[in-house]
Amino acid sequence: MDFQKAFETNKETWNKKVAVHAASDFYDVAGFKNGKSTLNKFDLKALGNVKDKRLLHLQCHFGLDTLSWSRMGAKCVGVDISDVAIKKAETLNKDLNLDAKFICCNVLDTSQHILETFDIVYTSYGVIGWLPDLKPWAKMIFERLKTGGVFYIAEFHPIAWMFDYTVSPPKMKFGYQQNTAIYEEYEGTYADTESKMISKEYGWNHSLAEVIT
Ligand SMILES: C[S@@+](CC[C@H](N)C(=O)[O-])C[C@H]1O[C@@H](n2cnc3c(N)ncnc32)[C@H](O)[C@@H]1O
Repeated sequence: MDFQKAFETNKETWNKKVAVHAASDFYDVAGFKNGKSTLNKFDLKALGNVKDKRLLHLQCHFGLDTLSWSRMGAKCVGVDISDVAIKKAETLNKDLNLDAKFICCNVLDTSQHILETFDIVYTSYGVIGWLPDLKPWAKMIFERLKTGGVFYIAEFHPIAWMFDYTVSPPKMKFGYQQNTAIYEEYEGTYADTESKMISKEYGWNHSLAEVIT
């Protein structure tokens, strides 16, 4: 399969999602601008005091989590394949007078764009399903972590991706360790199910065993 073509298709879809998500109640950009953190309690508890820590956020979308860590004093770099998401993140960073940096690239190519190493590499909620193979991803994380640094991932259980959500009720349709890509086209997004936007996307399922290994 042509992975570059799949990444291009996903990028186009994520570019379109940014405006829809930035206007959604789900992402509540107004609340965020007024000081609300988008981070979950258990992420905050797990990483503790991040002040002055160098934090690399992989697949940062339009930056709300990255900038939430910045507000807590972390020195953040966010990476995402969507140039529209990165532009939006940079605008928010500037508007809020924060000091995060953002880089637009395929997460698998991160080490071609960043040479520094980090205290924390962070990634969360809806990320690995966009990657066909976790080995180059894990290698890149190893390259970007300082010795003794922390890699933190919070992700949905892989069973979530075995369902076809375009039918009601959702139907179990895909394999737990499926090697082949799953292609889907559907209207709306998780952040705005009423949106008329059409998503076209390729995804890959990864078992817990694969993730942990
Ligand atoms: C579900 S979002 C991340 C969720 C994040 N926790 C949030 O809610 O803001 C997935 C992100 O992965 C990005 N993405 C998908 N494939 C990618 C790739 N190959 N390289 C880098 N970013 C990618 C998308 O552009 C999107 O911003």
